[in-house]
Amino acid sequence: MANKVELEDVQGIIIKGYGKMPHAAYLLLHFNEKQKAKSWLTDIAEKVTNATLSTKDDAVKHAINIAFTQKGLAILGINDTVMNTFSREFEEGMVTPHRQRVLGDFGESDPKHWDWGNESDKQAVDAVLLLYAKSKEGLDSLIEAQQKSFDTHAISLLNRLDTVSLHENKEHFGFRDGIAQPVMKDAGRREEKEHSANLINPGEFIFGYKNEYDQYPFSPNVPSEMDHQDILTPDLTTQGRKDLGKNGSMLVFRQMQQDVVGFWKFMEQSVTEQGVDDTSASMDALAAKMVGRWRNGSPLAKCPLEPNDKYKTFDNFGYAQHDFDGFKCPIGAHIRRANPRDNFLRNSSNSKEKDMEKSQKFMKRFRILRRGRSYGEPISPTLDPKEVLSSSKTDKDRGLHFLCFNANIGRQFELMQQTWINNPKFAGLYEDPDPIIGYPEIMGKGATTTFTAQEQPLRKKTTGIPRFVQIKGGAYFFMPSIRALKFLANC
Ligand code: HEM
Repeated sequence: MANKVELEDVQGIIIKGYGKMPHAAYLLLHFNEKQKAKSWLTDIAEKVTNATLSTKDDAVKHAINIAFTQKGLAILGINDTVMNTFSREFEEGMVTPHRQRVLGDFGESDPKHWDWGNESDKQAVDAVLLLYAKSKEGLDSLIEAQQKSFDTHAISLLNRLDTVSLHENKEHFGFRDGIAQPVMKDAGRREEKEHSANLINPGEFIFGYKNEYDQYPFSPNVPSEMDHQDILTPDLTTQGRKDLGKNGSMLVFRQMQQDVVGFWKFMEQSVTEQGVDDTSASMDALAAKMVGRWRNGSPLAKCPLEPNDKYKTFDNFGYAQHDFDGFKCPIGAHIRRANPRDNFLRNSSNSKEKDMEKSQKFMKRFRILRRGRSYGEPISPTLDPKEVLSSSKTDKDRGLHFLCFNANIGRQFELMQQTWINNPKFAGLYEDPDPIIGYPEIMGKGATTTFTAQEQPLRKKTTGIPRFVQIKGGAYFFMPSIRALKFLANC
């Protein structure tokens, strides 16, 4: 029997992107006093938005969600023994020499240069409050009300990270974003509309449900006696423990600064060097190959020659049958390496069908729910490359607040980042980390990325690609269930 997700206990942003709430800000908080922080939490737990909320409802004006770092949980009274039931990635945090290597955070992206996430304990990020509203005024008044409550509860607002909604749901390089998303089974989404490869067991994203290994993900838990008020449910795998994780998830937050002018200047220069007739169209095509979708969103695997509005949010496609060799969507394109779909296993058996079937099953274990938003004023409101190149703006104060949810940071987000995105030898390539967000210096000091487009009769290589995206802050968070929030306020 399917185990329906308890939507009323899950924080809304895990299940929904709040697309109807275009105004959002993320507040990074530090707790100065345990008891005052707990009393604030008692109050906020009543206001947090759960996943039953319908943003279509006119009466719904805003949403509030919250997540904690390891340091935040420690201040709230989670002792070392309980902390050890969390994953190592979460316990250690994003800023350790080991994680730096896993994630490729060196050079300008070195945590020592970050704007947040690398603070000393006295000013460490303990929690992030995610605020969403339908109107700008709604967001402003939400923030104002929160700020008042911070003052009375000895909470420091370390940083207010604003977001922007860009033209046609695009990110700053000008590509439509937020198209390919896995759909969580048994969570009230319209499953019949989905292709089966995209329907994923809840345990890949939230604790307390079976994952794609047909197992319960390791959920953080507490000794039963710690739950004086009997708020939490019993832990499913360990007797005498209560489940702190159930209906909660792990949130990865990375502030990624995008060099938009540098991106398009590079595309222009590359195609000019190749001596093409129509620079604008060729720039567009080269960038689209690097992403794997045209700027309007249509996937190259479906529309290899030109963008087609009919397919601008199309996601029901694979690579194995009609684009095995990458002649349509290059094998090293951002979306093809972040989700190789049915083509992950290449020639691993003597049957293409078997490989496809196995790939689809295998890939269900490496998906993430992306919930990020852009920040910073766009270089040009239309995001059109020609306008970007003729603009007098050259600052780099814009990018993506990349947020994603998964139940296992190591197996999902970090594997994707390390083994696929930053891997120069991904799927038989040679010196090709991800052309959009990869870390070239993994190949040695001063190294730049090569991008190979598989073509006939000969593949085409674009060389000397610099790093267009730098990390400016980040942290791993635990987003508890509503029940667990109440427990944390009372334990
Ligand atoms: C500034 C940083 C980034 C930019 C500009 C960017 C851009 C894009 C774009 C334009 C798409 C295609 C639209 C869509 O399917 O939603 C996409 C898809 C995707 N990106 Fe990124 N991305 C960034 C960072 C990341 C990071 C850090 C990860 C994970 C480590 C990631 C993982 C993915 C995944 C999994 C997909 C969907 C692939 C698919 O299922 O087809 N992205 N990204």
